[in-house]
Amino acid sequence: MQIPLVDLKAQYAQIKPEIDAAIQRVLDHTGFILGQEVANFEQAFAEYVDAKDAVGVASGTAALRLALQACGIQPGDEVITVAHTFFATAEAISQIGARPIFVDIDPQTYTIDPNWVEDELNKRSDGRLRAIIPVHLYGQPADMDALVDIAQRHDLWVIEDAAQAHGAKYKGRRCGSIGHLACFSFYPSKNLGAYGDAGMVTGNDEALLAKVRRLRDHGRTRKYEHQEIGWGERLDALQAAILGAKLPHLEAWTEARRGHARRYTKLLAGCDVVTPYEAPWVRHVYHLYVIRTSRRNDLLAHLRARGIGAGVHYPIPLHRQPAYLREGYGDVRLPVTEQAAAEMVSLPMYPELGEGQIAYVAEAVKEFLQ
Ligand SMILES: Cc1ncc(COP(=O)(O)O)c(C=O)c1O
Repeated sequence: MQIPLVDLKAQYAQIKPEIDAAIQRVLDHTGFILGQEVANFEQAFAEYVDAKDAVGVASGTAALRLALQACGIQPGDEVITVAHTFFATAEAISQIGARPIFVDIDPQTYTIDPNWVEDELNKRSDGRLRAIIPVHLYGQPADMDALVDIAQRHDLWVIEDAAQAHGAKYKGRRCGSIGHLACFSFYPSKNLGAYGDAGMVTGNDEALLAKVRRLRDHGRTRKYEHQEIGWGERLDALQAAILGAKLPHLEAWTEARRGHARRYTKLLAGCDVVTPYEAPWVRHVYHLYVIRTSRRNDLLAHLRARGIGAGVHYPIPLHRQPAYLREGYGDVRLPVTEQAAAEMVSLPMYPELGEGQIAYVAEAVKEFLQ
């Protein structure tokens, strides 16, 4: 049996007529840049995440960079985030000349540990720390109440990295409407994926979102009038049409992911691996189903030899990436992050996964452990 980590073809096969019609519609009206397609999807996505507004941008990375800029983060400022995430979380901070400050994660949820944020703030008095970017990693929301409380006391911005958390909830509230701004990626393999690069910034502060809207489109306020230096980082109309066709399916896909996660966890119960912890106050959307073992590389080889597309998210913490070692992060120590990076294995996870496939993967994991 061959079971990929993600199967984009299975999803397209299920909704082909809707996707093809959306693409054809854009080809027919040729409104390729912004316009009604983008506006419609922005409105639908804002409603989906219970946010006042949403601004479509070219990628999740662009979303993070534009959100930081809209909050006024300047070169020389510092932004607290995690090193156990995809590179773009920190890269966006660096792209605008600010400096990421990496803190450790909670050993159960793998999201930013608010105690370390507080600890870092207590060490500083120069006022350069301006924002926190919690990452709702693998689809599990970070501890937002604690973070918002810290942010209020220290006058910091909170920008959610919700690239892996479409539809996730924290204490009943959707990720995407809790921080000052939130950033989504619609990279093809995400829970809501485009057929190319795409992203979104959401939130409830209309002035901030209006600034993101200007920045994504060359700082433009009207034709040939540019208020500020911005970027060409608009959401593509074709991608907006495709995403708009997919959005009505997202809840069913998310429930399917959650069901698969329950099944994996049940089948792996009692085995010598750590299965994902789901905090009781969250709706985890299982962008990835990640288990831990100290024999990670051997397990990976075992699974791959059986046709199972297991992955690692993420093998090199950001403070250990060559790009950041050159920036002077060599002395940073993050024990929980470093251990997690050495032990994580992502099992196949996508809505169309069948019960037989899940049983086959779980059996292969058990076989290795015995
Ligand atoms: C946590 C996280 N942040 C940021 C990004 C960047 O998104 P994009 O690839 O759309 O630029 C991704 C996805 O790739 C991600 O997983």
